[in-house]
Amino acid sequence: SQIKEVEFVKSSARAKDCPRDERPEFAILGRSNVGKSSLINALARKKEVALTSKKPGKTQLINHFLVNKSWYLVDLPGYGFAKAPDSARMDWSSFTKGYFLNRETLVAVLLLIDASIPPQKIDLDCANWLGRNNIPITLVFTKCDKMKGGKRTRPDENIKNFQELMRQNYREHPAWIMTSSVTGLGRDELLLHMSQLRNY
Ligand code: GTP
Ligand code: MG
Repeated sequence: SQIKEVEFVKSSARAKDCPRDERPEFAILGRSNVGKSSLINALARKKEVALTSKKPGKTQLINHFLVNKSWYLVDLPGYGFAKAPDSARMDWSSFTKGYFLNRETLVAVLLLIDASIPPQKIDLDCANWLGRNNIPITLVFTKCDKMKGGKRTRPDENIKNFQELMRQNYREHPAWIMTSSVTGLGRDELLLHMSQLRNY
C-alpha cells in the first residue's frame, strides 16, 4: 500500500471535465483550511504536490492526482469558508455535489475533520448529506498534533464528541483515522485503509 509516485493530472471546473479513465478514486473533502491539500502532500511525502495556504479558500477546482499510475486522490475546494460571498458558496455546492452524485469511479470520500476544534454543525451536515446519498465515507481527523494533552495519539474530547454526534445519525459508524500532516500520524494506516477499499 505504499506510495511510489504522485503526479498532478488536471484541474477541472466541472464534474464532466474530470478524467474519464476508469481508475478508482478517493475524494478529499472538508472545511476550508482543515488540511486537505496538506494531507495529500503528507501521503506523497512531498511539500508542494498540492498547494496549501494559511488562508482558507486556496483550492478552488477539482484537482486529480494520480498515484502509482493506478488510482486517484482528488483535492476539492473546502466548504464553509465564512468570508466567501454567498454566490461563491452556491458555486461550491452545485459543482461539488454534481461531482459526488455522478462520479462512478468514486470509491469513498475521505471526510476531513479538524481534531483541534469542537464538532462543527457544517461537518455533521456534510456527513449526513453524503450518508443520505449513499456515498461511503471515512472520517479522517486532521491536526491531531494540536490536540491538548496526552501523547496526541489517543482520541480527545473533540473526536469523542464528534463520534457521539455521528452515532445519532449513522446506523454503522464510518471508519475513522487520526492523522497529522506535521508528524505523519495515521499516514500508513490511511494508505492501508485505502488499499483495502480499492481491492474490495
Ligand atoms: P482549502 O484549500 O482552503 O480548502 O484548505 P485545505 O483544507 O486544503 O488546507 P491546507 O492543506 O491548505 O492547510 C491549511 C493550514 O493548516 C495550513 O497552514 C497548514 O499548514 C495547516 N495544517 C494542515 N494540516 C495540518 C496538521 O496536520 N497539523 C497542523 N498543525 N497544521 C496543519
Ligand atoms: Mg486546499
